[in-house]
Amino acid sequence: MTTVIDGKQIAASIIETVKVASRDLMEQTGVRTGLAVVIVGDDPASHAYVSAKSRTAKECGFNSVQHTLPESTSQADLAALVQSLNADDSLHGILVQLPLPKHLQSEPIIQSILPEKDVDGLNIVNAGKVATGDLAGGLISCTPAGAMVFVRRLHGEDLSGLNAVVIGRSNLFGKPMGALLLNANATVTIAHSRTKDLAAVCRGADILVAAVGRPGMVKADWVKPGATVIDVGINRVAAPEKGEGKFRLVGDVAFEECAEVAGAITPVPGGVGPMTIAMLMANTVIAAHRKAGRTPPTF
Ligand code: GUN
Repeated sequence: MTTVIDGKQIAASIIETVKVASRDLMEQTGVRTGLAVVIVGDDPASHAYVSAKSRTAKECGFNSVQHTLPESTSQADLAALVQSLNADDSLHGILVQLPLPKHLQSEPIIQSILPEKDVDGLNIVNAGKVATGDLAGGLISCTPAGAMVFVRRLHGEDLSGLNAVVIGRSNLFGKPMGALLLNANATVTIAHSRTKDLAAVCRGADILVAAVGRPGMVKADWVKPGATVIDVGINRVAAPEKGEGKFRLVGDVAFEECAEVAGAITPVPGGVGPMTIAMLMANTVIAAHRKAGRTPPTF
């Protein structure tokens, strides 16, 4: 019998730990954890994500600040806002929701966020710390950090002797995920669109992580019997059965057939997705503890 990993439940347990940590920090030091979320433009999906982030931050007892800027915002105005958030001692985390409108360059904005406030883990200082194995010193980007929580709960801290395959080599996910697995002693392969015989590579994986953005690409005969399968894909596909023009979310893994073979598998939705917001809250309370000179909680 396969275990279907309940991302909602595990995310709720992370958020409970964050609530306790932020309350303790407040009681012991008077510091209230602060998170600023910035959104530019009118993209409805981005607004839905940002509302969920701001709402969860409030639930965690944070000072939750949202800056909603018009589509017409200039690069200079956005840069100036980030500088003012960097300088604000009441804020421990800053997140600029991506993608930005087309006329804005995201990279200089993301890189201008102070590394110690970069709760998205996208600044090159934080990416570099993950790449060099300095996991206690930086902030780890939220989606790979969330996927690693699943891996640790199933396999423990030490992945010695286990083969891990990550499909996808993006800076946002595949590369940091590979680095985190390697740091936990797994033998890691990062596969991608140019990999020869991808199915055979995947069949060697005790831990298979898919992040390619192709609905249902990973099939049952790609999965080693008993393997842990983590699906990071979130793809919108047409769902005419729900009505004309309706969509549903599916992952990169053909869930039903792979669940017959896997030892543990994440669903989409309800797997990695809820973990991303939970780990954002975790990073923010970690940043607040560091700023206050306190030992941060671990997740
Ligand atoms: N847009 C979609 N996911 C994310 C995320 O994790 N962080 C940011 N900043 N923007 C996103």
